[in-house]
Formats: sequence, C-alpha cells, structure tokens
Amino acid sequence: MSDFLNGFWSSYVAIISLVSIAGCVVLLVVTARSRGPARADNTTGHVWDEDLREMNNPMPRWWVGLFVITIVFGLAYLFFYPGLGSFQGSLAWSTESEYQKEVAEANASLEPVYAAFKAQPTAQLAADPAARAVGERLFINNCAQCHGSDARGSKGFPNLTDGDWLYGGTPDRIEETITLGRTGVMPPMAAAVGTPEEVRNLANYVLSLAGEPHDSVRAGLGKAKFSVCAACHGIGGGGNPALGAPRLSDRVWLHGYGQDAIVSIINTGKTNQMPPQQGRLTEAQIHVLASYVWGLSNKPAQAPN
Ligand code: HEC
Ligand code: HEC
Repeated sequence: MSDFLNGFWSSYVAIISLVSIAGCVVLLVVTARSRGPARADNTTGHVWDEDLREMNNPMPRWWVGLFVITIVFGLAYLFFYPGLGSFQGSLAWSTESEYQKEVAEANASLEPVYAAFKAQPTAQLAADPAARAVGERLFINNCAQCHGSDARGSKGFPNLTDGDWLYGGTPDRIEETITLGRTGVMPPMAAAVGTPEEVRNLANYVLSLAGEPHDSVRAGLGKAKFSVCAACHGIGGGGNPALGAPRLSDRVWLHGYGQDAIVSIINTGKTNQMPPQQGRLTEAQIHVLASYVWGLSNKPAQAPN
C-alpha cells in the first residue's frame, strides 16, 4: 500500500509526526508548570492600547482538556488508521478496501434482479425493456469508451450494431467474447507477399473482393498472392470467426478504408485486443450485456433459442 521505495522516507515521516506530538505534550506540561515571573498585581507587565493588560493566569481548564483530547485523538488515529509513514494502522483500513466493500455490497443488493435476468435466454432479454435499460447502462459504463455510446465503434473498434462479426454473432459467441476477451493477431505479411509492387497489386485484389473501386490490372496480378492470406481470411476472403480474421469481401473496414490502409496492414500486421470482463463484471451482468449487444443487430423475433 505504501508508495515508498524503501523504508527511509516512511521512517522520516513517522518520526516527524511522533516528535511533533511529543513536542505538543512537552509544551503543554511546561506551560502548565511554570507561570513565568510573578508580579504583585498578577500581570505579565505587558500593556497594550493604554490599559489592556496581559494577566499571568494559568490556561483555562477546558482549553487544557481540549488540548489533551486532541493529542490522545491524534495518537489513537495514528494507531488505528494509516498515517504514520507506511504503517497501515491496526484496522488495515484503506480507501481501496472501502471501495471494494461498497462494490460487493452493491452487487449483493442487485443479485436478486440479476438472478431473474440470468435465468432468461438472450432473445427474451433483448425483447425486455427493463433488461435492455440495464444492459444499456452497463454498456455506457464499461464499453462505450471503446465502442462508442451508440455501439457503432470507430477505427480499430468494431461496430456492434451492423450484424458483421469478427468472432461470430450468436449469443454464445458474444458472451464468450465479453467474458474472455479477444486478441486478434495478423502478422506482418510483406515478406511472404514479395516486393512493394506485389503488395500493392494484392491490395487491389482485396479491394476487388469487396467490390470497392480498384485497378483491375493490378488486382489480376495480385490474385495469386492471396493464397497466403486465405489461410486466415478464407478463400475469397470470407473471414474466419475462430481467428477473428475479418471478412474482406464486404465493405466493412475495421482498420481503415482504401489501398493505403490495406498496404499498411499487409506490411506491418495488426494486433487488436478486446479486454476480458471476467472478474470485472459478474456472469449475470455479462449475460445481460451480451443480450443487449445481440439485440442491437437482431430483431428479437428471429430468436435462435
Ligand atoms: C479497451 C477498449 C475496449 C473495451 C473497454 C471494450 N471493448 Fe469490445 N472490443 C475492443 C476491440 C479492440 C475489439 C476488436 C478485437 C479484435 O479486433 O480482435 C472488440 C471486440 C468486441 C466484440 C466482438 C465484435 C465482433 O465483431 O466479433 C464484442 C461483442 C465486444 N467487443 C463487446 C464489448 C462489450 C460488451 C464491452 C463492455 C463490457 C466491450 N466490448 C468493451 C475494445 C474494447
Ligand atoms: C495469421 C492469420 C492472418 C493472415 C495470414 C492474414 N491475416 Fe489479415 N487479418 C488477420 C486478423 C486476425 C485481422 C484482424 C485484426 C484485428 O483487428 O483483430 C486481420 C485484418 C486484416 C485486414 C483489415 C480488415 C479491416 O476490416 O480493416 C486486412 C485488409 C487484411 N487483414 C488483409 C490481409 C491480407 C491481404 C493478407 C495476406 C497477405 C492477410 N491479411 C493475412 C489475420 C490474418
């Protein structure tokens, strides 16, 4: 819990704290014992504004009492709570443990709600406005920073509303994607393809697969080279959901559109990661989320289960 790299600064802080408190005690004792040189009229001899005299009285008892309470409170606080260098305090309290406790309590109080959701199949949840509202909130809090609050994604982050899936769009596959995360890896392929000219020809062939504008002479020359790509992207570029290799024969471009984008991905490859939510979200939350995501591109009437 301590950010100190070694014990020195921790001891330094602890010693200053304890010495300061000891200093307060000494000050209190010393001032209580000695009242300075007494004078006949019981003043210190200091006079301000002509007739304002400083009396040589002891501190009022209530004030001394408060001072003692303050010292005792300070010592007790440092004993129970973190404050003395890197000493955690005997209660081992921390803002983090407090936060974890609150999260656990909130999850426990929501458990009955989620238990009901968890028992229902995806299609039913996707049609249930209450479940969709919970799914949307979970999505905004946990997913929108990457996939966008409308789930339409952006460059590098897939659109989840278009019915086009890297890893498959069945409820089970979506739930697996969210639970375990996904890492899509395309290795740099330039060496397997050949010269920069050949890479450009191949890129034109990929554009032709998708029905995008392309140079058909180059595409014809590049066609044969596509065999090294077909292992992952499929013959004809149909994609492979087991690897997360995108379909290249459609006009959905995750990593940018056009010849230059394709040339660049052939040359440098691409690694892209969807972080696992297992441990962050409960199983029931993931089920509700997966149903929400599935419902974005499926009419509940076409329910597969
Ligand atoms: C840190 C960014 C990030 C966050 C947060 C994130 N995702 Fe993703 N997600 C990605 C990336 C990147 C991919 C694509 C992975 C790839 O290209 O291999 C992805 C892929 C997916 C896919 C697969 C899409 C397909 O076409 O098969 C689904 C489903 C998904 N995310 C849902 C979610 C949900 C639900 C959440 C919220 C719990 C979430 N994501 C949070 C970055 C993120
Ligand atoms: C080892 C498997 C593998 C091979 C071989 C491979 N790719 Fe890929 N490719 C992938 C994966 C996986 C992705 C998606 C990366 C991600 O976002 O997760 C991808 C992404 C792409 C994209 C981006 C698609 C988009 O929607 O933006 C293009 C274009 C592409 N590959 C072209 C090729 C070409 C051309 C070849 C042959 C030279 C090739 N790939 C070979 C696995 C492969």
